[in-house]
Formats: sequence, structure tokens, C-alpha cells
Amino acid sequence: MTAPLILVNLKTYKEGMGNRAHQIATAAQLVARESGAVIGIAPGYIDLHPICHHFAIPVYAQHVDGYEPGARTGHMPVEAIKLAGAAGSLVNHSERRLTLAEIELAVRGIQTQKLSSVVCTNNDITSAAAAALGPDYVAIEPPELIGSGVSVAKANPEIIRRSVAAVRAINPKVKILTGAGIQSGECVKIAIDLGTDGVLLASSVVKAPDPVVILRDLVSKL
Ligand code: G3P
Repeated sequence: MTAPLILVNLKTYKEGMGNRAHQIATAAQLVARESGAVIGIAPGYIDLHPICHHFAIPVYAQHVDGYEPGARTGHMPVEAIKLAGAAGSLVNHSERRLTLAEIELAVRGIQTQKLSSVVCTNNDITSAAAAALGPDYVAIEPPELIGSGVSVAKANPEIIRRSVAAVRAINPKVKILTGAGIQSGECVKIAIDLGTDGVLLASSVVKAPDPVVILRDLVSKL
């Protein structure tokens, strides 16, 4: 089994931009080095290139379009995030929903560039659909718990169980993350014990006065 992934999505929080993005990346690198855990971050596009080049942690884009580079104003080709140094990209976050065709295009584009794809889903049925596309990860996040401070691991372990079963039944090679309200080592342990390969989280780290403190707690039970 590969090491669990703790992936921190900086979203467009003010506390996750510019110098703060660098502070969170510094914290992630420090805690990853002292614990041996794999901690990645997903900053905004403006911070993607500098963070990729200054830190030795997996850095993901928050969104990518599967289109070829060319005359497509305002789109983000996979080639662009690869040139920036990204390890991969989130696809289809609840806050950036895509059609099934767009998700497929993005996953294929990411695969063609040999990067890592994390397709976010909102329930076990969409998790099964995402698994059929063969991404590296499916990340199950019940939308009603996102940013709520209430952990999916504690409030709705059943949705994690169902999603793990649904994804495994379709494609056992696809790894699974879970997210929404993840905030402690205990949440991470519950997620792993339920059969996932890590967590996708945001506010508990991004809004923490000192991200090192919460990151150390997150990896404390691995
Ligand atoms: O992408 C992670 C996310 O949607 C979960 O957010 O703030 O509940 O950890 P949060």
C-alpha cells in the first residue's frame, strides 16, 4: 500500500494566497519531513509555479481543462500546470462542478501528461462513475459538510464505507480520499481505517493561526 496522502486545498481563501500560501507550504514540508507523511497542497494558479519550484512536496492545481493548448482564452491546459511543475490536479470539486464529459476529458489529459488526477465526488454513486474513468484518486466529499467544521469521518462514516465499496467494485486500482470537515489525527485515522488512502481538506489548515500545529495533529496517528 502506498503512503496515505494528506492533500490541503487552499481554495480561494484569503488565508491561502500569496505569502500565506508559502507559509502553508513551508508548514507542510516541515511536517512531512519530520513525520515521513506525504502532505501535498493545492494552491491557486498564481501561486502554483513559485510553490512548485520552492518546495519539495506534491503540488496540485485546483482545476484543469482537458483541452489541447491553443486558441482557448481563459482555459487551463494540463500542459500549463505540468510546465509549472505540478504533480497533478483536482477535477470536479463541489465548488467547481463539471459535466461528466469534461471530467473525462480532464482525466484523459492528465493521464496523457503522466500527472496525478484527483476526481472529487459528492456521494457513492458519483464515486462509482468517477472510478470508471480510472483516475489516480476519487475524493468523496459530502457537500453539506464542506467547510462546516463537522468531520465526515465522524458525522457520516457510512458514506465513506459505501464509496470505498463502490469504487473498489468498479476499479480496485483507483485510490480513495475523503474530505469535508477533516481537522485532526483522529479524523484521518478513521478515514484510513475505513479503507481510504488519505484525506482532502482545507479550512482547518488554511484558517489555522499556525498551520504547523494542525498538520502535526493530522499526521499524529498515521
Ligand atoms: O477540497 C477540500 C474541501 O472541500 C474540504 O473542505 O474546509 O471542509 O476541509 P473543508
